[in-house]
Amino acid sequence: MTEWLIKGASPLGDDPVDVLIRDGAIIEMGVVDAPGATVVDAEGLILLPGLVDLHTHLREPGREDAETVLSGSQAAALGGFTAVCAMANTDPVADTAGVVEQVWSLGRDAGYVDVQPIGAVTVGLAGEQLAELGAMASSAAKVRVFSDDGHCVSDPRLMRRALEYVKAFDGVIAQHAEEPQLTVGAQMHEGVVSAKLGLAGWPAVAEEAIIARDALLAGHVGSRLHVCHVSTAGSVEILRWAKRNGWRVTAEVCPHHLLLTDELATSYDPVYKVNPPLRTAEDVAALRQGLAEGVIDIVATDHAPHSLEDKECEWSAARPGMMGLQTALSIVIKTMVESGAIDWDGVAQRMSRTPARIAGLADHGHDPAVGGQANLTLVDPNAEWTVVGAELAGPSRNTPYAGMTLPGAVRATFLRGRPTVLDGKLTEGVSA
Ligand code: DOR
Ligand code: ZN
Repeated sequence: MTEWLIKGASPLGDDPVDVLIRDGAIIEMGVVDAPGATVVDAEGLILLPGLVDLHTHLREPGREDAETVLSGSQAAALGGFTAVCAMANTDPVADTAGVVEQVWSLGRDAGYVDVQPIGAVTVGLAGEQLAELGAMASSAAKVRVFSDDGHCVSDPRLMRRALEYVKAFDGVIAQHAEEPQLTVGAQMHEGVVSAKLGLAGWPAVAEEAIIARDALLAGHVGSRLHVCHVSTAGSVEILRWAKRNGWRVTAEVCPHHLLLTDELATSYDPVYKVNPPLRTAEDVAALRQGLAEGVIDIVATDHAPHSLEDKECEWSAARPGMMGLQTALSIVIKTMVESGAIDWDGVAQRMSRTPARIAGLADHGHDPAVGGQANLTLVDPNAEWTVVGAELAGPSRNTPYAGMTLPGAVRATFLRGRPTVLDGKLTEGVSA
C-alpha cells in the first residue's frame, strides 16, 4: 500500500512536523525521511483532524436532481470533511432500518467521506408516531442520532418518549426547534425588515420556546438533546441556563447564521431563504459569542442543496436552505478565527472533535497522533478564493456566498490514510 509523507504541516497551528501514513494510520510524526513514500508538500499548511458535519442534507433517496450521496460526499471532501451525518428528510424518509442501511452503503460505495445516517424520530416525519428507533440503532448503519429536521417534534409527549427510548443506547435527539403554531406561513425573521417587506414573520420565540421545553425534558429524562441550527440571541441564553443546570444539551450554529442577516431578504432573492431564517446583526453577534464561549458546542453546515426549479422562483414558493459544505470552514475562519475569537485548536474542537463525539463516530475527531487513523485535513490559511456557484460540486447552485472572496482553502483531505482531495481537487476516492 502507498505510503504518504505529509511534509512540514502545522498541527493545529503548532510547529511544523512531518507525518508518515501507512495502511490507514499515522505511523510516525516528527522529522521523517521515507524514501518510498509519496510526498505531500504541506509547508505553511495547517493540519486539522478531518472535519465532521453533524447536519448534512444529501437528498438521496428521492431528490437526486438536487444532490446524491456521491455528489454530497465529494462536496464534503472538498470542504475538508471526513465524515458527515445525513439528515433523514429524504423520500422515502429515513425512518426504517432499510433506508438508513441504503444511505450508509451508498456512502461507503461513494468513498469520499464516512456517511453516517441520521434516523427520523417519527414515522414519515409526521410527528405522530415514533419511528423504529431501536431497529435503526441495531442496523448496519448503527444510528445514534435521530432527527425530524425540517420539522419540529412539537408534541411534548412524543419528544419525551423519544428521549427516553434513545437513552438505552446513548442515542441523541437532534431537534429542529420551531413551534409550528408560531410560524404558520412564515417567510423570514419576524422583525423590522419583515414588517417593511410585508412578509409573514418567523419569530425568535418559536425557536426559544422549544429549546427551553426540550432542555427541561432532557434534564427530566436524563437523556441527550442536541439543538440544530440555533439562530437567536435568546436561544444562546437558554442554552447557557440549560448547561448551568448540568443537563446533557449540546447545540450547533450554522455558518450562514454567523455571517448573514435578515437585511438580505430585501433583495427578494430566495438564495437567502433558509429555515430557521437569517436573523439580525444582534443575533449574529450573540451566536459568535456563544460559539466562542462554548455555550454553542459546534458548527454544523445544514448543507441544503435545492434544484434550480425549487430555488430560482419567487420568494414565497422557494424552498428554504443553502449549500454549505464547501464554504463552512472559510466562513468560520472569516467570522471566528480572523477576529481572534477562536484559534485553530478551537476550530478542531467545534468542527471535528465535538461533532464526532456527539455523533458517536469513534474513528473521527482525533488530533493527528501516531497510531491513530489518518482522517486529516490540510488547510492553507493564507489562501483566498472566490465562490462561484457553477464550480461547486453537485447539481445545485444555491450558495449565498457567490461572488464573495473567502479566506482559507482546503488543500488536501485524507480518509483512512488515503487522499480524497489533493492540491484542492478530488481524487478518485477511497473504495471500501
Ligand atoms: O433551510 C432548511 N432546509 N432548513 C431545514 O430545516 C431543512 C432544510 C432542507 O431540507 O432543505
Ligand atoms: Zn432544520
